[in-house]
Amino acid sequence: MTRTLVSNIGLLVTNDSTQDGTPLGLIKEAALVIDNGVISWVGSNREAAKSDFENSIDARGNCVIPGFVDSHSHIIFAGDRSGEFRARMKGEKYSAGGINSTVALTRAATNQELLSNAHRILAEANSTGTTTLEIKSGYGLTIKDEARSLEIASSLTEETTFLGAHVVPLEFQNDFEGYVDLVCGEMLDAVKPHAKWIDVFCDQGAFTPDQTRKILKAGIAKGLKPRLHANQLEAGEGIKIGVELDAASVDHVSHISEHDISLLSKSNTVATILPGAEFSTRSKYLDARPLFDANLNIALASDCNPGSSYTSNMQFIMALAVREFYFSPEQALWSATMGGAKALRRTDIGHLGVGASADFSILKTPSYIHIAYRPGVQLIEEVWRRGNRI
Ligand code: NIG
Ligand code: FE
Repeated sequence: MTRTLVSNIGLLVTNDSTQDGTPLGLIKEAALVIDNGVISWVGSNREAAKSDFENSIDARGNCVIPGFVDSHSHIIFAGDRSGEFRARMKGEKYSAGGINSTVALTRAATNQELLSNAHRILAEANSTGTTTLEIKSGYGLTIKDEARSLEIASSLTEETTFLGAHVVPLEFQNDFEGYVDLVCGEMLDAVKPHAKWIDVFCDQGAFTPDQTRKILKAGIAKGLKPRLHANQLEAGEGIKIGVELDAASVDHVSHISEHDISLLSKSNTVATILPGAEFSTRSKYLDARPLFDANLNIALASDCNPGSSYTSNMQFIMALAVREFYFSPEQALWSATMGGAKALRRTDIGHLGVGASADFSILKTPSYIHIAYRPGVQLIEEVWRRGNRI
């Protein structure tokens, strides 16, 4: 049995509100103990110093936070779209149609190329403090290419999502309903062994509300759990559909009405905000304060993908959320950890309470506030996952 002590934690963020009556559950001058990859004790550093430990890590007075739970990424793809980004920065508008250029490159890539690209991005994410990453398919859009995308994703994470309904591929431009039937039928059957979630891009230039309902219901009937891309490019029914079907999360929510907020407040569905997409598509930033005022569960995620948000760095996402979306530093940290866990309906991650997976980062700084206060600086000293340093 391996037992490890992490001592001299200047500020420990547990996300266990019973610690201090706030959502972050802060403990000053803290320590924690890991037994077989799981947190078995948290408390004061003075108390911990009374026992002997074989393995001991010194946090040197710095802040320790739960690992980031990034609940939304699209990292199974080939190529990049830097040219599209450059054109956009000169004034061109982002559209869902750009996805098809990544689809062509992804179809032409070997499994090994797709795996090593995804692996490279996962390593980036890990090194910047992400310990859980959800990964979607959605750049294959044939039975074979969606199935291999999800097989590759499942070798990297347990949080795999079937997004065959990302856009309608070019060969189905005259037969949208034919594509919806394929997604709901043969494609779903082929990906099922490797997918936990089903997602639909319900938006302008992608799928309609009726198609979205049909696809999510087909997935649910086959045992997948629903989540969806809702209201990124325009206001619509996405959030309503998510609540109706008890989706774990509705993502983007860039165009959200008072009615949508009220629906979410009475539901078990998390609102996931993806500031990287607004940044990289030069779209209007959302003022998240009305969502917090309504007590919604809010997650932050990277949306890492080659088109609309090519970043894997949750520290950057938090900085954007604080500066541009009016999150407090505390709300940003909670949303990037516990919020992400709730968006994946996980209770074992996103916090550092007893029984939680020992997924955490030791920062180079005494406080988590520095994540937004020192943007663009790598502030993570060590990342631990399941009790092992990664
Ligand atoms: O979440 N919104 C849909 N899908 C991605 C964009 C994918 C792309 O442009 O390649 C997103 O932003
Ligand atoms: Fe996305």
